[in-house]
Amino acid sequence: MKLIIANWKAYVATVKEAERLAKKVAQIKIKKGISVVLCPPFVFLDAVKKSMGRTVRLGAQDVFWKESGPYTGAITADMLKGLSVRTVIIGHSERRQHFLESDDIIRKKVDIALAEGFDVIICVGEQAREDAKAVPKLVGEQVRAALAGISKGALARITIAYEPIWAIGTGVSDTPDDALSAAIYIRKVVGDMFGATQANMLKVLYGGSVDSHTIRDFILQEGIDGVLVGRASTDKEEFTKMLSSL
Ligand code: 13P
Repeated sequence: MKLIIANWKAYVATVKEAERLAKKVAQIKIKKGISVVLCPPFVFLDAVKKSMGRTVRLGAQDVFWKESGPYTGAITADMLKGLSVRTVIIGHSERRQHFLESDDIIRKKVDIALAEGFDVIICVGEQAREDAKAVPKLVGEQVRAALAGISKGALARITIAYEPIWAIGTGVSDTPDDALSAAIYIRKVVGDMFGATQANMLKVLYGGSVDSHTIRDFILQEGIDGVLVGRASTDKEEFTKMLSSL
């Protein structure tokens, strides 16, 4: 099964827009073997749930790391569960950068998301393209920090998304070969932590300027289990083209 995660980020501003986009996605014929998860902004989750039909699933762009309590502005796991969210994205580079999320916070979010039964997509990626041949050490450190201490059983609900920051929102994606090298490296790190069987089962995605021209190049790689799509997933025509091209 290949995964396509549509991360709408903060590109969609109104509930009407969110509904229109979700309804459009509901009309797309999604091929067998492809699983699509829409991750709208929190405030549109309910409207999207009602408009998106049954062919796609609902995800959230983040989750707070405490269960409940005096945390102004927080969106908790229980709130998301009540809206039929089954998947959460954690540790996106934009959360790390603009919301100052540390590896420690990300680790706590992974903990609560797993404890509450979510499928978890953990984002990792380096800031600048240094040497295209070597995946920066930082990526391994981010993976190790996010997965430290979790059980082998829980690993089955984790997907790692390799999203090099220099490729996000720039229109310049990584090459499929280098994205594959990163996926292999991530599996190696996970293999060192949990064993080869677990590493082979792990899903690894690529994200960063994926569009209708490039989606096939990534998704058809055997070692890449899908893509995380930002801006292009909020353009109705472009997203339709992307899904139809598979
Ligand atoms: P873009 O597809 O807009 O580059 O964003 C990628 C991303 O960050 C998905 O989470």
